[in-house]
Amino acid sequence: MNDSQLLDLIGRSVERIRSASDDTPELAIVLGSGWDGIAGLVMDPVDIPYAQLPAFPALGVAGHAGTLRLGRIANRPVALLRGRKHAYETGDPAGMKGAIRTLAALGCGTLVLTNAAGSLDPAMPPGSLMLISDHLNIVQRTPLHGETDNQRFVDMVNAYDAALRDQAAAAASAAGITVHEGVYAWVLGPQFETPAEIRMLRLLGAQAVGMSTVPETILARHAGLKVLGLSMLTNMGAGMADENLSHAHTLNTASATADQAAKLLAAVVPALKA
Ligand code: HPA
Repeated sequence: MNDSQLLDLIGRSVERIRSASDDTPELAIVLGSGWDGIAGLVMDPVDIPYAQLPAFPALGVAGHAGTLRLGRIANRPVALLRGRKHAYETGDPAGMKGAIRTLAALGCGTLVLTNAAGSLDPAMPPGSLMLISDHLNIVQRTPLHGETDNQRFVDMVNAYDAALRDQAAAAASAAGITVHEGVYAWVLGPQFETPAEIRMLRLLGAQAVGMSTVPETILARHAGLKVLGLSMLTNMGAGMADENLSHAHTLNTASATADQAAKLLAAVVPALKA
């Protein structure tokens, strides 16, 4: 797809969203495994299936609905992206490009990215929540491949906005919710890591490992959105505990931690300054 084709899909997606709601979402949240509970706390929800938003991806993974929910949290216009495209599905890390550029075109300035991740830190057992302070792009792939202008040389210092992180940490603490903070390493997947890979990632300074988020952060920073990243640790990294890793295991811990994750988002969203 060329640039003008993508711009056309984005324009049509913006129109469809504007026709559904008069509110312009200031903040959008991509809901990963375990994070969908916040969708039930949205006031005056309006749902648009991704299938009606031509810049949005077609989805395939169990547990990801593929719906954009517009509405309000604490009287703030928000957009929830219920489901994401992962690079492991197609090999293409740009699966969320059209969706994120649609948010930017709508005038949305803040993107909250949530995910389920493996913990690399014994101090963060399964069920812990973590603010992402920075990432390691282990895959060394980018959703910006093919961009030609100088904007593609995106500054990734402060990729996970320090001010948003402080606001989120303060809101969590005021709500009595423990959140850790750490570096998220992006692996391509869909296979889990080997124990040797987990030892490598720990040596490299990562506290969490997962298969999403990083391409979206790059796209968002390129589009000028500020990013807050949140991980739910669903398991210890391979070889760190005697549990067998599986997607079912991820989803089980995710559903056990879902209430806490929804509480965290409900506390954090009103606290994030535009
Ligand atoms: N590794 C990679 N991705 C993950 C994991 C993991 O252990 N848990 C949840 N997503």
